[in-house]
Amino acid sequence: MPLDKIGKWVGEKLVQLKEKGILKGKELVITEIKKSQGTKSPRYLIEGEGKKEFIKMNSNSYLGMSLKKEVIEAEKEAAEEFGVGPGAVRFIYGTFKPHLELEKKLARFHQKEAGMLFSSAYAAVCGILSPLISSETIVISDTLNHNSIINAIKLSKPKDKKIYIHLNMDDLETKIKECRGNCRRVIIVTDGVFSMRGDHSDFKELVNLAKKYHPEFKEGVFTIADDSHGVGAFGKTGRGTSEVSGENDVDILVSTLGKALGVNGGYVVTNAKIVEYLRETAPFYIYSNPITPPEANAALKALEILNSQKGRKMLSYLKEMTIYFKKGLTDLGYETIKGEHPIVAVMIRDTQKTIKLVNYLKEKGILAVGLKYPIVPQGDECIRFQISADHTKDDLDDVLKTLREYKNK
Ligand SMILES: Cc1ncc(COP(=O)(O)O)c(C=O)c1O
Repeated sequence: MPLDKIGKWVGEKLVQLKEKGILKGKELVITEIKKSQGTKSPRYLIEGEGKKEFIKMNSNSYLGMSLKKEVIEAEKEAAEEFGVGPGAVRFIYGTFKPHLELEKKLARFHQKEAGMLFSSAYAAVCGILSPLISSETIVISDTLNHNSIINAIKLSKPKDKKIYIHLNMDDLETKIKECRGNCRRVIIVTDGVFSMRGDHSDFKELVNLAKKYHPEFKEGVFTIADDSHGVGAFGKTGRGTSEVSGENDVDILVSTLGKALGVNGGYVVTNAKIVEYLRETAPFYIYSNPITPPEANAALKALEILNSQKGRKMLSYLKEMTIYFKKGLTDLGYETIKGEHPIVAVMIRDTQKTIKLVNYLKEKGILAVGLKYPIVPQGDECIRFQISADHTKDDLDDVLKTLREYKNK
């Protein structure tokens, strides 16, 4: 019975999570997807809910790529040609043609010299930060950065870490100044789009600050951004926060293939020297399988669609629907956060009210995510809706109608 003693401790931990209101509990299982029909976007069937159909207002697949016929075909073709798995890590013959082609095309898409794939964006963030952080590095990070950045910093053991107030460039500048004389290298790390709120960094301001103080540190000041929710969802051509922020760009960009591109996996794009170094030193890259060759081929197709006239149309429609939905919410008296990203956070500002509204929406066949403390700061409790290019105006009208009924109840 070697696990009986730890079992008691684990049980107590689970009770604590429940008491804190952060236990995720039983996962909801999708058993069937009904494809788009007429003015109806795809509908989802869920285990235990019989034939009831749900609309997903909480999907990261902002362009609906995961269900696109051409993307599915690309995955099938590569599975026939290369098999379904890489069979090894990259340096032990786990590198296939679609991996290299995808790395090259991602780099070109972001106008960087080189790209590098990881099994996920989470692995990419954790994989690159530790080889770039020395014992003489101070990392400066936004308060609301994604969990992958928080854990990557912990893993990397920098000389020090500093947290700046969310999106506050004055505070960031103060923190950079505090590093003077205390380290050789400063790394500023941030999310592009912040997943809980849909607001975003201004890369231009960030890069300008890095440039301003770069000469004062022996190994310089540089920027790393994770734009997993920005790429493919934001900007006229889907280049994410870089595009929305203007022409300046971060030094190292991380993103995912598992959200707007609809597939799975993560990547980094930056200059060729850094990629060469990371391939030799990033443990999550060296000692872990890459995405499968079929996944890489599917991502190549999704990227090709994104980077075409069709992709631009999808992005323009996505923006139009986001603005439409936000206006509908405002007209109903709901509070939202300014911006045009398809993450639409409806601020409820109370835990119990958030839970109640999420349950009501589910009862009415609408899936949305309730974000409560401590996932968001106390008082920022909200419901996160995510618009997709698959959604139709009729879909959004139905959701708004349900929200109106709830308000009038
Ligand atoms: C900002 C951010 N980075 C990284 C990730 C993780 O992406 P992946 O699923 O590719 O690991 C997420 C997903 O929730 C995210 O929101």
